[in-house]
Amino acid sequence: MVLEAIKYRPHSLEILDQLRLPHESVYAPIKNSTDAFNAIKSMTVRGAPAIAIVAALALAVELANREFESADEVRSFVSEKLEYLVTSRPTAVNLSDAARKLAKLVKETEGDVKTIADAYIAAAEKMLVDDVSDNMNIGKNGLEWAKKTIGQDKFSILTICNTGSLATAGYGTALGIIRSIYADGLLSHAYALETRPYNQGSRLTAYELVHDNIPATLITDSMASVLLNSHPEIKMIVVGADRVARNGDTANKIGTYQLSIVAKHHGVRFVVAAPTTSIDLQTMTGEGIAIEQRKPDELVTVRGPVVDKDGNVNKGETKTVHIAAPGIGVWNPSFDVAPAALIDAIITEKGVAEKDENGEFHLEYFF
Ligand code: MRU
Repeated sequence: MVLEAIKYRPHSLEILDQLRLPHESVYAPIKNSTDAFNAIKSMTVRGAPAIAIVAALALAVELANREFESADEVRSFVSEKLEYLVTSRPTAVNLSDAARKLAKLVKETEGDVKTIADAYIAAAEKMLVDDVSDNMNIGKNGLEWAKKTIGQDKFSILTICNTGSLATAGYGTALGIIRSIYADGLLSHAYALETRPYNQGSRLTAYELVHDNIPATLITDSMASVLLNSHPEIKMIVVGADRVARNGDTANKIGTYQLSIVAKHHGVRFVVAAPTTSIDLQTMTGEGIAIEQRKPDELVTVRGPVVDKDGNVNKGETKTVHIAAPGIGVWNPSFDVAPAALIDAIITEKGVAEKDENGEFHLEYFF
């Protein structure tokens, strides 16, 4: 069975509800941009490429199902809705990049209502298709880079958050590289960080690894250094990206920065996997990246299905429990920035960026 997080057919969009995974696979209908905004904000769908594609396709469905009086009306409707969708989550650049390209297309398309709507819909549909092929190429480029840099012997990999089929249109970025290395017979073992506080690692990456029968082990975020210290067969940490600044500084899930430091200390390669739509040449360094702060609830509560006294999971019934001292203050940044200085390579669908003799990336060559 192929994992399909985004189910799109002309006039209809459904997303796999990631709040109910891994215990239940339930699809939620997305009928318009308001549904998409709410799904992104609540993290029913998450992951930089996935949120951009769901936003773009939700508006495609809305355009396909709605009547407009004039070309101007459809143009202003699209631009207003795109502006609104971009405000759902600030850190991942893929959403604003997609919105900017779609807004430009609609502004520049001449013709009647149908011509404009059709042009928008075709472009949004292409984003879905392109993301899968880009991820396959990231996987291929990552495998080649690993063979060249690490060698031909089997090795293990550590990753954080969820960067797989659930975070993209399919296959995944960092998890796509793990898939490609596994398919080639080079992967000894994958280690997934739990990824507190939202547990994308234990809920979603673990689900994908089990689904694909990839030999894998889950650890808590605080175990990463001791794991590297005691498991020399781990040769690579691969992470995704929400936004890569022009100099290579990379914003990704909270916990990524500490992994980049730990990798350096242990001589393990630290690699970012991202489509070029995650590269933001307008933002010079990581300091310019807005980091989303999320609600304290995510840190002080845990939500999941009820387990009976024999350990059986009751799928129908979820429960939220409080796990911190009431009244304690909470800091909950959703992302952090791994500095370019600690990144060995940025693997994209167009090729692999490595630093020059001055220690600088040149990401502009991809554009
Ligand atoms: O808060 P999330 O779950 O949307 O964060 C996702 C990540 O940080 C991913 O690593 C990143 O978006 C890359 S997904 C291919």
